Amino acid sequence: MIPENTGPAAVIVLAAGAGTRMKSRTPKILHEIGGRSMVGHALLAARSIEPRQLAIVVRHERDLVAGHVAELDPSAAIVDQDEVPGTGRAVEVALQALDAKEELTGTVVVTYGDVPLLSGGLLAELVATHERDANAVTVLTAVLDDATGYGRILRGEDGTVTGIREHKDSTDAERLIREVNSGIYAFDAAVLREALGKVTTDNAQGEKYLTDVLGLAREAGGRVAAVVTADRWQVEGANDRVQLAALGAELNRRTVEAWMRAGVTVVDPSTTWIDSSVTLDEDVRLLPNTQLHGSTSVARDAVVGPDTTLTDVEVGEGATVIRTHGSGSTIGPRAAVGPFTYLRPGTVLGEKGKIGAFYETKNVTIGRGSKLSHLGYAGDAEIGEDTNIGCGNITANYDGEKKHRTVIGSGVRTGSNTVFVAPVTVGDGAYSGAGAVIRRDVPAGALALSIAAQRNTEGWVPANRPGSRSAELAQAAINNSSSTPASTEEGK
Ligand code: UD1
Ligand code: MG
Repeated sequence: MIPENTGPAAVIVLAAGAGTRMKSRTPKILHEIGGRSMVGHALLAARSIEPRQLAIVVRHERDLVAGHVAELDPSAAIVDQDEVPGTGRAVEVALQALDAKEELTGTVVVTYGDVPLLSGGLLAELVATHERDANAVTVLTAVLDDATGYGRILRGEDGTVTGIREHKDSTDAERLIREVNSGIYAFDAAVLREALGKVTTDNAQGEKYLTDVLGLAREAGGRVAAVVTADRWQVEGANDRVQLAALGAELNRRTVEAWMRAGVTVVDPSTTWIDSSVTLDEDVRLLPNTQLHGSTSVARDAVVGPDTTLTDVEVGEGATVIRTHGSGSTIGPRAAVGPFTYLRPGTVLGEKGKIGAFYETKNVTIGRGSKLSHLGYAGDAEIGEDTNIGCGNITANYDGEKKHRTVIGSGVRTGSNTVFVAPVTVGDGAYSGAGAVIRRDVPAGALALSIAAQRNTEGWVPANRPGSRSAELAQAAINNSSSTPASTEEGK
C-alpha cells in the first residue's frame, strides 16, 4: 500500500511585513538570490516536506506578492492579514482560513518568506523531532555571536525551553542570551489555535506576538522544546541589500560546492555563479568568471568559460563555449562557440557546428558541422549541414518594416563579406564570391557573383588632395615608376 502524504497538516509562510530597509519599489521577498525570489526559495522548502496545505500570509504590496506566488505555486492559499499587527495575528488569520475548509489536526509549521537558505532537510528534521517527542511547540533556534534584535530563548534550570522574549521587551540579563528564535516552528494545531486566542498586544511593540504561544502552551501543560541548528545561514533573513548580497553569496557558495561534489570542475568558485535552477553533468568544466542562469543545462565534458554568461541555454556534450553572452539557445554536442559571441534567443547550433569570434546570432538554426567562423550576423535564418559561411557574412533580415528569412542549404561555401538580402534562398552546394550581395535565389550548385567592376582612376589622390601626406607619398611613388598615368577599368 502506498502511504498517505506523511507531511504536516500545513505550512504557513509569513510574508505580510513591509521590508522598508530594502528601500525598493519591489517587495522585499520578491528580490532574488540564486536566480529565484526569496519567497520562491521559501515555498520550495515548504513544499519539499509535503504539507497537506500550504498558506502564505500577505499584506504589504499584497497584489504583487500574491501574483508572484500564484505563478510559482498555484495551489498555495493566499491569506490576507488584517490591520492587527504581529506574527501571532498573521498565523491566526492563516489558521482561520485553513480551518474554514476543515479543522486542522496534527502539525502546523510556520516559516518566513524572507529566509531563503532554509532547507527542506532542516524543516523535515524540525517536524520529525516535534512529532517523535509529541511536543506542543518545537522552535528552531541558533546560537549567534550577536543576538541583537532577535527574540531570546528562555530556558529553565533544567534546560527546558520556557518561552521567548522579544529584544525590545527583554531585561539587560536576558539580552546576554545568545540563543535566538529563528521564527520557524512546528506547532500542534489544537495548542496553537487555543493559545492564539489568548495572545494580547500588551508589549513594547503593541503587536500580537507568535512567540507568546510558547509560554501559553507550557502553562496549558504542553511540552515545549527547541531544535538548535549549527548552520546560522539557514535561519538568517534578508532585511536590507547588504544582507541580501551576503545570503546570495553563501547560497552560491553552497550551490557551486554541491556541483563540485557531483563531479563538475569549477576552476574559480568565487567568480562562478550558478542559479539554483541550473543542471550540470559530470565532467563539465567551468572556467573563471562564468555565470549560468535560469534553465541552463550543460552536458558531460563540455567546457564553459572563461567570461561567459548563459541564460536558458542548453550546452551539448563536449561542446566549448568561450567568452560568450547567450540566452534562449541550444548548442549541439561537440559544437564550438566563441570567443566574443552573442547568442540571442532562438539560436540552435547543430552537432560539431561552430559560431566563431565576433558573431551575433538570433532565431537561426544551423545544421550539423556548419561553420560561421568569423565576424558576422545571422538572424531569422536556416542553414543546412556542412556549410561554411565566410568571414563577415551578414543576413540582411530587416527591410525597415518587416523581418525576412534567409534559407541556406547544405554544403554551401560563401565568400567573405557576402550579404544575404532576405527573403532569399541559397541551394545546396552553391558558392558565392567575395563581397557578393545575394538579392535573388541561388540555385543548387551555382556560383553567385555580384560584380561591381573595380575602377582605378590613376592620379586621383595627388590631383584632388594636393598638399596631403597621401598625395606627397603617391607623387613620389608615381615619379619613381615608369608607368604613364591613365584610367583603367577592370574587365574592359
Ligand atoms: C520575529 C520574532 C523574533 C525572532 C525573529 C527572527 C515575533 C514576535 N518575533 O521578530 O522572536 O527572533 O522574528 O527573525 O514573532 N510578519 C507578518 N505579519 C506581521 C508581522 C510580521 O506576516 O504582522 C512576517 C514578516 O513578513 C516576516 C516575519 O513575519 O517574514 C517576521 O517579521 P519581523 O517583523 O521581521 O519579526 P521580528 O520583529 O524581526
Ligand atoms: Mg525580522
